[in-house]
Amino acid sequence: MTKHYDVEAVRKLFPAAERLTYLDSGFQTPMSTPVRRALETFIDEAYETAGPKSVWIERMEATRAKLAAFLNAVPEEVAFTKNTSESMNIAANALPLAAGDNVLMVHGDHPNNAYAFLNLARKGVEVRFVPMTETVNAESFRPHIDARTRAISMSQVTFHAGHRFDVEGVGRLCAEAGLYYVLDIMQGVGVVPIDVRRVGATFIGSGTHKGLLVPQGLGLLYWDRTRTELEPAYLAAISLARPPADLIARPDDLEPAPTAARFEIGNFNLPATHALGAALDLIGSIGVENIAAHCFDLGDRLIEGLDACGVALVGPRARAHRAPHIYVAALPAEEWLDYFASRGVRLSPERDGVRISFGMFNTAADVDRFLDVVRERGVRPGRSPRAA
Ligand SMILES: Cc1ncc(COP(=O)(O)O)c(C=O)c1O
Repeated sequence: MTKHYDVEAVRKLFPAAERLTYLDSGFQTPMSTPVRRALETFIDEAYETAGPKSVWIERMEATRAKLAAFLNAVPEEVAFTKNTSESMNIAANALPLAAGDNVLMVHGDHPNNAYAFLNLARKGVEVRFVPMTETVNAESFRPHIDARTRAISMSQVTFHAGHRFDVEGVGRLCAEAGLYYVLDIMQGVGVVPIDVRRVGATFIGSGTHKGLLVPQGLGLLYWDRTRTELEPAYLAAISLARPPADLIARPDDLEPAPTAARFEIGNFNLPATHALGAALDLIGSIGVENIAAHCFDLGDRLIEGLDACGVALVGPRARAHRAPHIYVAALPAEEWLDYFASRGVRLSPERDGVRISFGMFNTAADVDRFLDVVRERGVRPGRSPRAA
């Protein structure tokens, strides 16, 4: 039991975390028992009875409602997509942008967000990058807004150093300046609380294979449905206000659905929506605030340990500016990654070191194991920026 919830009980639901020191939930979270059971339910039904699709769809809609509640949205504002990239591309192509318009982004933000907007160069839309600094807030963008700025797109949490940006402040700036606002919450969702009403974004996109605990291949897209001028670049029968009951396409009736279904295309990743339903139940039973608080505590322990070893932390140190669960230690990945792997410690290489990322199941013992492995090998003086 920790201060926030019974982590030992949660950990038992993630067998992979018992077999290795898993510090890589920023890459993907290992499968939990409830998610596995939900997938098995789907597989058994498909295998044994070819499954009643109507029941699968009902369950998907129940999951959509849970997801909407989780975001403080309503189900009509939430679409299912394939991943973050698809959500960002849907958003970028729905914005009514014209040649000469510009979009502001943060330099070095995740490429899957950046390319969706860079591709608008085909329409003559320019992307302008503002510098990545310890914190990004309204003041980071304000000086770059000009008469042709139409939108800001950014990530809530950076994958490569664990910055947590002021997404609500940027939302207020967008409202004040009349800009569209597109937010990528992939790295934060499930750990960093999110409330779409407070953020005020036009679109929010994410995948589900990190903090939302689902295997790869399911994404989400929140859409502010008061923005009825935003129309989908792609169309399928389910995207329409009035899908033809006889399945014969009507050239004179292409009105998009009044809900976020306007951004959905064709059949769904039904097994993954089953998994997401179970994952949201698990997260809900703990509480995102508790997961965040627990990860912050692990982060404090990690930072203290890195300091003691003379290894610099690459991203922000202050809780106000850092994500609870993403930390990069300035240990060159090419020198350290195989070593960690040989000691049963799983983490990711990053631009400036190795990334330690926590999930709801990690414990102080995982942090200590990581630090022991660092100490066991020793840090060569001069290799870490702190020591240099
Ligand atoms: C901020 C951010 N956006 C997007 C992605 C991934 O994009 P996709 O879901 O399209 O694979 C990641 C990490 O994988 C990420 O950290």
